[in-house]
Amino acid sequence: MALSALVAGGAVAAGGGGHKGKPANPGIEGKVNALLGKMTTDEKLEQLQLEADWQINDSEAAKGVGGVFSLTDPQKINHFQHVAVEQSRLHIPILFAFDTIHGFRTIFPIPLGEASSFDPDVATADDTYAARETAATGLKQIYSPMVDISHEPRWGRISEGAGEDPYLGSVIAAARVQAAQGSDYSAMDKVVTSPKHFAAYGQPEGGREYNTTDMSVQRLWNLYLPPFKAAVDAGADTAMCSFNAINGVAGCGNPETETEILKKQWGMDGFIESDYTAVNELINHGVAADGADAARVALNAGTDMEMVSTNYVDSGKQLLADHLVSMKRIDDAVRRILRVKFRAGLFDQPYVDWQAADSKQLLPDAVAAARKAAGRSMVLLKNNGGTLPLDPTKSVAVIGPLGDNQHDMLGPWWGTGRDQDAVTVFDGIKAQDPNTTFTPGCEILDKDPPDPPNDECGSDAGFPAAVAAAQAAQQVVLALGETRGESGEAESRSDIDLPGKQQELIDMIKATGKPFVVVLFNGRPLTLTKVDAAAPAILEAWFGGVQAGNAVADVLFGAVNPGGKLPVTFPRSVGQVPIYYNHEPTGRPCDPTFKWNSRYRDIPTCAPLYPFGFGLSYTTFAISNLTLSSQTMPSHGSVTATVDVKNTGTRSGDEVVQLYIHDPVATISQPVRRLRGFQRVTLAPGETKTVTFTLDRSDVGFYDNSGKFVVEPGAIDVYAGDSSEATLKQSFTVTP
Ligand code: NOJ
Repeated sequence: MALSALVAGGAVAAGGGGHKGKPANPGIEGKVNALLGKMTTDEKLEQLQLEADWQINDSEAAKGVGGVFSLTDPQKINHFQHVAVEQSRLHIPILFAFDTIHGFRTIFPIPLGEASSFDPDVATADDTYAARETAATGLKQIYSPMVDISHEPRWGRISEGAGEDPYLGSVIAAARVQAAQGSDYSAMDKVVTSPKHFAAYGQPEGGREYNTTDMSVQRLWNLYLPPFKAAVDAGADTAMCSFNAINGVAGCGNPETETEILKKQWGMDGFIESDYTAVNELINHGVAADGADAARVALNAGTDMEMVSTNYVDSGKQLLADHLVSMKRIDDAVRRILRVKFRAGLFDQPYVDWQAADSKQLLPDAVAAARKAAGRSMVLLKNNGGTLPLDPTKSVAVIGPLGDNQHDMLGPWWGTGRDQDAVTVFDGIKAQDPNTTFTPGCEILDKDPPDPPNDECGSDAGFPAAVAAAQAAQQVVLALGETRGESGEAESRSDIDLPGKQQELIDMIKATGKPFVVVLFNGRPLTLTKVDAAAPAILEAWFGGVQAGNAVADVLFGAVNPGGKLPVTFPRSVGQVPIYYNHEPTGRPCDPTFKWNSRYRDIPTCAPLYPFGFGLSYTTFAISNLTLSSQTMPSHGSVTATVDVKNTGTRSGDEVVQLYIHDPVATISQPVRRLRGFQRVTLAPGETKTVTFTLDRSDVGFYDNSGKFVVEPGAIDVYAGDSSEATLKQSFTVTP
């Protein structure tokens, strides 16, 4: 489905090239130009500087620094804003920014979890409350949404994005931008967004953080750019260029992605900030000789603001004198920054009511939304023999290192969230079933190097107590996974099994014969082959945020029927990586029974452990009757697909109906499946709904290896179902 049909207000332009662009506001443009006309070169260069919380001080503020990030004390923000506005010659306010990724104080589930909801309203709720709390603190820009598509579970930052699919990623990106910015981000509860990391940062070689990326043109356009385009079309006025290089060109020194695509083709008239010292790192990338040269490369590529390193302010004048950077380019960068500051309302309302900031945090409506979001984000991976839902009249033993843990529930970008804000699994379950005990079994510690990395559940000394607790209870909840510090930035893992001795703990609990469920907290797909073999029930809970424990209890006892689906493929073993549903075909498609095929000789199947789009429910659904409105579609027309979904079980529940397409004959190989529509519906027992999807050129077309969007005549296969393995099929023909 064209994104415009999905996103409220239709603000998102249909895919397939072209840009919506924003009409220039003559009032603001006049003010920007008038101000620019008064600025000295030094003042212009100061606007291009973005300082960290540890760099800002009164003299920096008085010089007229452009932006400050990571400062979260509203009194200090207000103070530096007063200095900037009152003491700098031209009274230009500072733009304060923060990484509000999945909540500011009210921490929501990690973005990978929220993508599992297949419900843009979950992302909308997160960003609505996050913007309110962020803006109340005096921060007017968020380094969010993180929209990097990734096929790399080894990469810790897969937790921050929406997974492996560009369509789902685009829907979520647009929802986040619209929620955080509203129609006017000068509003007291809104902020300007900065989609990141531009571009293709989600595909570092080997899954190793910051590593280089070799990227075909068609993949860049078909897989990695669409969520950025959706974010820009939804109104995102800033963007962050990435640390990594694609095809030898570093993200913050890339004129093609920054200037040609983002600014010219897509019409983004706000600014691009670098990632942290990424301008200076152009030297390490081997594309700049020294700091001045790095400033030259980054400025000329289109990076407007330099984060932390200071090469623009240090060398800008010399670069101008040597004609290595033009005043036209400096003016363009300053203009973009001032434009965003005017749009953010900073010139009219630079100050924050810092004494009121606290009263806007962690309010009951935000906390309730976080609980709902966490429940909707969970994915039921296995439920043999009706292990779940648990019976609240029977005793429960909560066992495991994450069972009474507040710290890790907040996930890898906890903003200003505090451990004490979080509800643990034990507390959540006890609130619904007082006959509950907790036994850790082993410890899991959130430590950074050089502390030993293998400090998660490293000892089995607590296992006998865990076994005794299981034996004493009627049902067991095993709370396992990773520390929050094990995913996120700079947390790549070469082994994505459950860390430490947690598998042994599962095996010991299994031996007790008690019914048990493994509840997982993690920021990436794990290799769960052994867990799947041992456990009768598995619930993927991700890192659920402040209400994680209550939401887990809601799902385990059945108050919430799980309806999430995986936004990313779960491999059987790390050797299968990269494995993703929307891969191109090969000349010898995978067949594990025959040698001369694309397969692994030591894996008896071609399938992942759990495919993209997969997730179970406590009820059952039947999806049937896929019908197309026409057998043909003119290349500028559309075709409607309808499909029925029926709740065939005895409980009310949610199903995500998914629509995929495949172009079987094209000038370049097309992915075996591409998600082009989804809808999460709630159905009472016995109820049937008909879900409608409209397909047009933005769905059937693709970008070729010159970056051109093409719609080719010929057959399109359409699949509908409850995961990427959907089997209902119909076809139509695209005519010229
Ligand atoms: C580095 C990270 O890559 C980026 O996502 C973040 O916004 C900046 N640091 C600022 O905290």
